[in-house]
Amino acid sequence: MTSSAADTFRAAFGADPAGFSRGPGRANLIGEHTDYNNGFVLPFAIDREIVAAFAPRTDRTIRLATTIEPGFQTANLDDLQPGGGWAAYPLGVVWALGEFGVDLSAVTGFDLAVSSTVPVGAGLSSSAALESATLMALTQLWDVRLDRPTMARVGQRAENVVVGAPTGVMDQFASLLGAQDSAVFLDCRSLDYEVVELGLDAAGLAVLVIDTRVNHAHATGGYGQRRAECEEGARLLGVSSLREVTGSQVEAARDVLGDVVYRRVRHIVTENRRVLDTVATLRTHGPLAIGELLKASHASMRDDFEISVPELDLAVDVACASGAIGARMTGGGFGGSAIALVPASQSEAIGQAVIDAFAAAGFAAPATFLVHPVDGARVVSSSAS
Ligand code: GLA
Repeated sequence: MTSSAADTFRAAFGADPAGFSRGPGRANLIGEHTDYNNGFVLPFAIDREIVAAFAPRTDRTIRLATTIEPGFQTANLDDLQPGGGWAAYPLGVVWALGEFGVDLSAVTGFDLAVSSTVPVGAGLSSSAALESATLMALTQLWDVRLDRPTMARVGQRAENVVVGAPTGVMDQFASLLGAQDSAVFLDCRSLDYEVVELGLDAAGLAVLVIDTRVNHAHATGGYGQRRAECEEGARLLGVSSLREVTGSQVEAARDVLGDVVYRRVRHIVTENRRVLDTVATLRTHGPLAIGELLKASHASMRDDFEISVPELDLAVDVACASGAIGARMTGGGFGGSAIALVPASQSEAIGQAVIDAFAAAGFAAPATFLVHPVDGARVVSSSAS
């Protein structure tokens, strides 16, 4: 993998890179749209990643290359001006580091080339992968010393302000703080987190991703609308965030909220509870026991939060009917991927059942593949891995 970033670097800049960093994508086990409501999430870093090859420069120029485009884009530390497209993510990270106290007037530019195995638009957070790979490169190049939770906030700030997507902090946390065979249990209010062992291998389980290939986009559309509906719910309930709300308060305020906002708020309140229940269940009974929670989460996203699409519902239904322990859409919704927790020995058969069902329904073929929970972003020393 690093070799493809290295080749791109050499082709674009005519020199060898000085170092490499990697940033994984993420899947969310449970806790959807709860992050920007100050709630709980339980994502994990996956073995689909972005690799960045990088080298310092002596001037103030930044050059950015990717395997998916010939040539490179140029910016300058004195005039970051990120336009649209993928370069807004690394340039956004540079800008956000300045907001978090890095003296951008005292650093030099850099060349950076990226390659990726995270499918774009699949709901597996290629954006956080790119942000965290860039952050790792810059911590090395500029000797930046920020703790990882702060780096996650840097990535989020870049995405919110420079890219213009009103997302929460979950994806960056997963990409930066993930750990082998584990998920990150994050309280998005305090940013306290714990690494929770999943024990998938020991239980004979695997995570099957079903990428519906229905494209989603967070900078526009439904994501921002859901966020606004949640803020409206908090306002009507007189609280600073939906984290402060209990199930009985929601029921009591049903008329005040109106049907749509009531159901949005109910999703957030019940989803927070499901995250806590999932963590407790993992600890007491292991991953074989969390299937019903995953299914209930999907039903809540489909019926109350209304962020699913027919392809995602079919993927979840067929996976569960074919032997999955549980399944749910993952990420922002309106397309993207579902995850199914499956007996490892049945993963191929379950994937095939979903592919067959998509064909029978007249949907475009989904991509199905396994993902494994891995360690978070890091600098790597050589191109040999
Ligand atoms: C996207 C956002 C996250 C989170 C999820 C939904 O992935 O980037 O911050 O809100 O959607 O849970």
